[in-house]
Amino acid sequence: MEQAGALVLFGITGDLARKMLLPALYALSDSGELDLPIIGVAKTDLDLDGLREHARQAIGDVDEAVFGKLAGNLRLVAGDYGDPGTFDRLLQETEGKGPLVHYLAVPPSLFAVVAEGLARVGLNKGARLVVEKPFGQDLHSARALNEELLKYFEEEHLRRVDHFLGKEPVEDLMVFRFANMLLEPIWNRNFVRSVQITMAEDFDVAGRGAFYDATGAIRDVVQNHLLQLLAIIAMDAPPSKDARAQIDEKWRVLRAVQALAPGDIVRGQYEGYLDTDGVRPGSTTETFVALRAYVDNWRWAGVPFCVRTGKALATTDLEIVAELRKPPVSLFHGQAAELRPNLIRFRLQPDAGVTFDVLAKEPGRQRTIQVPVSVDFTKVLGPMEAAYERILVDAVTGDPRRFARFDLVEEAWRIVQPVLDLPDPPLPYRRGSWGPDAAEQIPPGGWHEVSTTFD
Ligand code: BG6
Repeated sequence: MEQAGALVLFGITGDLARKMLLPALYALSDSGELDLPIIGVAKTDLDLDGLREHARQAIGDVDEAVFGKLAGNLRLVAGDYGDPGTFDRLLQETEGKGPLVHYLAVPPSLFAVVAEGLARVGLNKGARLVVEKPFGQDLHSARALNEELLKYFEEEHLRRVDHFLGKEPVEDLMVFRFANMLLEPIWNRNFVRSVQITMAEDFDVAGRGAFYDATGAIRDVVQNHLLQLLAIIAMDAPPSKDARAQIDEKWRVLRAVQALAPGDIVRGQYEGYLDTDGVRPGSTTETFVALRAYVDNWRWAGVPFCVRTGKALATTDLEIVAELRKPPVSLFHGQAAELRPNLIRFRLQPDAGVTFDVLAKEPGRQRTIQVPVSVDFTKVLGPMEAAYERILVDAVTGDPRRFARFDLVEEAWRIVQPVLDLPDPPLPYRRGSWGPDAAEQIPPGGWHEVSTTFD
């Protein structure tokens, strides 16, 4: 894949650019990883100096030399995406800059409008198109959107962002599994009783009520981020090092996941959600979901993969716990029933690392006790790059591995499709709790507590 000569950033004055993309571009200017013209496109009254000031505000504390480098690379094309003149000006601005990557940090309703505008002036030729999530609202609309984009760009040139794939600890899941001999022999239905994936957030949806109410937890994070995690944790080792082999293996996992049935999920809504600005009266949108999925293949058949996520929960945490089967016999009289299973915890956020919960002999007693064996990657390995830095570098260099290929997106929609928009109201839950009590029934034996910190 060819390295892009310039980055065209649609929506440069929007929320995503302000919160994520501009700070990431600054960090990449600092590290020297990206140094290329960045042509912002936006419907704005700002001129180029105004855009530079906007970028400075978005980044916060800046080193003047680094900021100067970034500001020197910035250009601006102001205009409406529906106006052909905007694309004529973009054509002039990008002249002679080499292959382009167009990054669409705009609402999905504008993806096809922008793609068409680019194609009209030939700016689709040899260029890549990066689109943010959500990719569709369900299986049908995702397919329609894809067909629309394929009119102007080839699949090999399309990049669908799932920023979880840019997170270093997420990628490390795969490395930890396949670079060590430790896990692979036991990583199957014979040794693993269940897998639990928890993505908890302690904040609510204030400030994005209208978006969230039209979306809900399943569309917002399960269909994309959490099914990607499930695929990584359950996949086979890729047969070769190229990106395609890796993506193919994830696809094979999702292909084997049964579509969810209403009985496999518990939906919740935190108390007070209906008072949020932008939320429809009587809305049945879920702010919490717990579900049980099955991967119907030889490695995993019968092992429940349980996923829970929600807003306004007890803590903010992203963790995957694999519970191993219990040993068949106990060393001590009378303890068999209480033997605790080994747990393998992959900690992804807020800190990254691995913990094995193992059993040791309790001193002075004839019984075992559970002890954690832990490594905090952040402490041992140092700071990690932010997800959007890696996404932007890949967008520019062309590496597709940290993006969602359409066939995976399609499988993910297939899996959640039967439980989207269920008519029954979600169960209420208290803010700061772990969701409705009924969610405890999802994994066999209930959810394992997440380990809130390494210390
Ligand atoms: C986004 C969702 O895709 O991911 C948000 O729209 C969610 O609702 C966010 O909070 C979580 O991402 P991160 O990187 O902050 O954990």
